[in-house]
Formats: sequence, C-alpha cells, structure tokens
Amino acid sequence: MATVRKKDRRRQWGEMSRSKDAGAAVISPTDFANHLYVVGASGSGKTSLIRLLAKHLEAWNRNGVFRNAFIYVDPKGDDSYKFVRQCDPGTVGRGLVHFLDPQQTKFSINPLELPAYQENEREELVSRYVGYFMKTIEEWYQQSATFVQMERIFRALLFYVYMEHDSPTFLDIHDMILKMQESGHDALPQIAGTFGTPNREMEQALLSIAALKGDAFVPLLNRIEQFATDPVLKRMFSVRRGTVNFRELIKPGTYTVVRISPLNMPHHVQPLAMQAFILKLWFAIQERANRLPGEGRTQVVLALDEFQIVKDLQVLQLMLEQARSLGLGLVLSHQTTEQISDTQLGLITGNSGTQLVGKVNGKDAVRMAQIWDPQFKGELTRLLASQEYFHWSIREKAPPGKEQPLPVQFWLGAPPDLQVSAAAYDTFLAAQLARYGRGIVEDTMVRQTIAARNKWLESITVRFPARMEWGIMVMLLGKPLQQVEMVSQLPVSNRSEVLDVLKKMQADRLVRKTDPGNRLSKYELTQEARSAYFEPKFDEVGSAAEIEGLTRRVFNGYLKKAMFVAVASQKVTKGRDRTDLVAYDYEDDTPISVEIESVVEVQSHPEHVRYNMVKWRDMGFGRCHVWSKSPKARQIYDRLSDEEKRGVQVRVI
Ligand SMILES: Nc1ncnc2c1ncn2[C@@H]1O[C@H](COP(=O)(O)OP(=O)(O)O)[C@@H](O)[C@H]1O
Ligand SMILES: [Mg+2]
Repeated sequence: MATVRKKDRRRQWGEMSRSKDAGAAVISPTDFANHLYVVGASGSGKTSLIRLLAKHLEAWNRNGVFRNAFIYVDPKGDDSYKFVRQCDPGTVGRGLVHFLDPQQTKFSINPLELPAYQENEREELVSRYVGYFMKTIEEWYQQSATFVQMERIFRALLFYVYMEHDSPTFLDIHDMILKMQESGHDALPQIAGTFGTPNREMEQALLSIAALKGDAFVPLLNRIEQFATDPVLKRMFSVRRGTVNFRELIKPGTYTVVRISPLNMPHHVQPLAMQAFILKLWFAIQERANRLPGEGRTQVVLALDEFQIVKDLQVLQLMLEQARSLGLGLVLSHQTTEQISDTQLGLITGNSGTQLVGKVNGKDAVRMAQIWDPQFKGELTRLLASQEYFHWSIREKAPPGKEQPLPVQFWLGAPPDLQVSAAAYDTFLAAQLARYGRGIVEDTMVRQTIAARNKWLESITVRFPARMEWGIMVMLLGKPLQQVEMVSQLPVSNRSEVLDVLKKMQADRLVRKTDPGNRLSKYELTQEARSAYFEPKFDEVGSAAEIEGLTRRVFNGYLKKAMFVAVASQKVTKGRDRTDLVAYDYEDDTPISVEIESVVEVQSHPEHVRYNMVKWRDMGFGRCHVWSKSPKARQIYDRLSDEEKRGVQVRVI
C-alpha cells in the first residue's frame, strides 16, 4: 500500500501482496486474526493507516477473498465521516454501512437485553448473560476484594431481574436497589410484584442490599446512577429495546463506524459509553461462538483508535488473549507507549502479530526496539527514532518455528479518496437516524407495575382512604365517638396509631373534634367528608326506574362489609371504559368493579352487559361484581369462557 501510484489505486484495493518486491503492502488477511498494534505521534498517519486497512477489508468482502465485518470506534469524533465516505457507494447502497452516533443517528443499546431466542434456549442464554454481565460489574469493582465478597449476591440479583423479563434495564436495577435501601423488607412485595417471587437465594440477595449499606454497593451504584441520570447515557443505554442488532454488526460484509466522543457527549461519560459498547460487542462475539462452530465464525475486525481511553478495561486483556479463537481481531492504535503501563504494553505486543511504528519520540523508539529485537536494539532505535510523518516500520511476528523477518519500512500512501458525495452522505445519515433513532427510555418496571396497579384509582373522584381512615369514617357515620371507643373497634394494637391517623384526618378535614379544647373530646365526620364519601348521587348510575334504589342497597352492602365503596366517576371520556361503583376489599387489597344492570339493559343490550363483565381487567380491577334484578344477567355470565368468568360474580336480587 505504500508506493502505488495514484492512477492504480482503485485497482489495488483488496489485492495487498505479501511481497516486499512488489513494493506494496505486507499485511495479508490472516494478519487480522492476530491483532495489530499501531503507535505513532499525532499526525503520523495512524488513522489514515486504519482507513487504508478498512478500504482493503471492504474490497475483500466484495471480491470474496476474505469475508469480514469491520468496526471502527472513533473517540475523537473527527474521522467517522471519512470512514463512511471513503466506502464504495455500492457498499453504502446495499445497506452494509452502519453509523452509530448518539447525536446524529441516536442509536441505543440495552446492555442487558437478551438477543432473540427459542424457548428451550432461554435458561442457558440467561446464565450466559448473567455471566457476561458479571464481567461488567467486575470491571466496575476493578477486581477489588469487595467484588469477590459480593459476587454471589450480584449473581443472584441478576438472575432475579431476568426471572420474568427479557430486557431489564440499568434503570430497573437502579430502582430496585434504591427501593431496597429505602424500605428494606417492606419493599419486597412491590419488587416481587414486578420481577416475580424471588427464590430464597434471591430474597437473601435483595435483603442484603438493605443490610449492607456501607461501601459494598457503591461502585455498582455509582456506575448505574450515571446510566440513570446522565441524559446522554440514559438515551444510549437505558432503553428497554436497543436499536442496534449486534448479531448483524458482526456478520461478514458489515462495516460499522461508532462515534463516541467528547464532541457528542460529556467528556466524563465517554469511557463508560465506550465500555458499554465494547462489552456488548464482546458478548455478541462470545454468543456467536456458542452458536456457531469454528469455521462458521468469519473474522470481525475491531479498530480502537486512540485506545488509551479504554486501556483499563479488563476485558481488553481477555479480548487480546481469547479473541483469536473467537474470530475477533483487534487493531489498537495510540500516540505513545507512555499512555499505557509496561505490563499493558507487554500484553499487547505479546499478543499482536503485526506491529506498526510511525513517527515516535526517543523513548518509544527504545521501548519498541527492545521489544522487537534486543540484539539489534541500537540500530532499531535509530531507525524508529528517525522516522518522519507518514514514514512507518512494520514488524510481523514469525509463526512458530519460522525465522523472524526483519522489520520493513514504508511510506504511507495518501488516505483513500472520499467516494460518497456530501449529498449522498446526508441521505445516508437520515436513513441511519430513521433506523437507529427509535429507542425509547421507558419508565422502570417497578414504576410501571405501580402505575398499572393504581390505574383503577382513575375511576374514583375522591381520595382513596387508607384502611383505618375508612374504618373510622364508617364508624363515625352513625354518631360521634371518643378515641377510646374507636380503638376498641379497630384492629390495632396501640392507641397512638389511632391518634396519628386521627390527627392526619383532622388535617385533611375528614373529621373534627366536637369539643376542640377537651382532651377527651369526641370526633365527628365533617360535612365535607360526609357529602364526598357517603352521599353520592345514585341516580347518576343509570336512568332506569329501579337503579337508584338498587344502587343504594348495593352501596350499603359494601359499607357493612367494611369495604371502601364509591360511585365511579361518570365523566364520559371518549373511548374510555367506565364502571358504576368502585369497591375495595381491604382484606386482600383488591379493587372491585361493580356493575348495576337494569332489567331493561339486560333484556335489550345483553352485549353491553357481557362487555361490562370482561372490561374491568384492563381498567386495573382485580374482580367484578354484577348486580341486577334480572335473572337473565346470570345467563349472560354462563356464556362467558372459563377464562372470562374468573373473578366475576353475578348477584340477582
Ligand atoms: N501519505 C500521506 N500523504 C499526505 N498526507 C497524509 C498522508 N497520510 C496521512 N495524511 C494526512 O495527514 C493528516 C494526519 O493523518 P492522520 O492519519 O489523521 O494522523 P494520526 O491519526 O496519526 O493523528 C491527515 O490530514 C491525513 O489526511
Ligand atoms: Mg488519528
């Protein structure tokens, strides 16, 4: 790729030769399986070098010489458009090019979302995902001793969030942890209502969140909190359904540019965003290895330009060591070896078959010369230190048993031309935005459950009273009572509890003292409470002659059973279902939809009556009671399916 004249360049893509004599490049397809390391000062041509490689990889896909998926991660944000626009317009036209940018194409990824699966694969997939995600948490804990102690707890919690859901989010986990920390044991029912009934180990793990307040959860919470609060991270990584299909990104022919840079997000969240992307990709690579035998895994080339931003990612080491067998090749490029530790440099150079050094400072020259060949350290140092911009040395590690070839020096060719016009690029961006910008940050599952559970409240116009408040109000309906008289009739163990409730009810103007100065004063219902809760307009429920009386009877029946009851809001909202009365059974915490059906209605519109017997579930009710003077109501019930009958009771009186 070094010395080919301009007019020949188009033809040359995809025809890299190993031969030095050809005066051309020395990188061949197989080298991409063994990682490439690129070091050179700013402006030395690193990104241009990767662009040239990308051009060859693209051509190899077209001519079938070497099928590969290419992914370029651009942490500076300046080079992405070049990688896209240097593509053959045909590659773009065939939908093979993907551009992921939090601003321009608004992509989103849910790191926790399971990929599509067959039912019999779920268990294994979940276990694998829990395993993957444990790696992420391990990263956050930087391999500290705390992680080791917490490992079992984290694992149980992760299994728990997958118990009933395929795509929990960081927000869900955040919410769950905060709920447990706030309310401990008391939060369990709500959490179980959302994520399912935890098994013993899961429950222990949940309770330990409340118990282990100290530092144990800090690294986890700190990270998750950023995903929950930073608006950019939230949009990118806290959606329920991600818009990026990683299985597709690693398919041969695919060419992806990922722009995660301080130009499109706050500087401090960039590493976390890069980490989330790289880990998800790594999951996808591992998941593919589980699905496909060795020969089915085509090469994925992941180019991390300026990789020092993610140099501390533990998974990078795993990728360097294991990626080869999984079909992932890395191209790691950065400016100077001073950006990484000796250990990291040793690990990277030890694991990359091809190493390229451009214009570097003296220290880098010495370090790389030492690594390349200690025997000729002096000569190599001079050679490397004297390189100008665009002047590079390449060294390919000899396969075992073969003689180590000498490094080759070459001049970098000019970067590829931009073949996609500015107008075509704009069209491309718009299409990518339409494809990737569909992510929606939903409410957390806990909040969705609460909202669903409270939906029935939309059917009443009064504030729903707590059990004891209602008990007190019903007691005071007949006559004023002293506190002690009430305590004896209420299911409470201590009187201060009743006093607290009475104080609150006074503040809410539901009750008042008959003799305010007196400690032993009686309490009575306020007129406001009486008219709001106990003097409803029964005639609102229906116009048929018997309705008012029947409704009153039914209403009083619920009161006698100590259930809350109210006339439902009769506001007619288009397309909105209504019920007649709303009752609430405090014994088993269930809201009940109560329907009063006139004889005329049952006779002339049985389909309405039938509908009333089934509509209540979607309105958030747990049961349905139907009252009518017509025995036909029961016949309508009898024709419901078993599924529909569940929770419905019909009383003919
Ligand atoms: N062989 C070359 N001849 C002329 N200009 C080049 C050559 N290679 C790269 N350039 C230009 O030099 C500049 C810096 O190159 P770049 O690849 O961005 O360097 P780096 O990534 O190392 O900072 C770019 O504007 C690029 O177009
Ligand atoms: Mg660069």
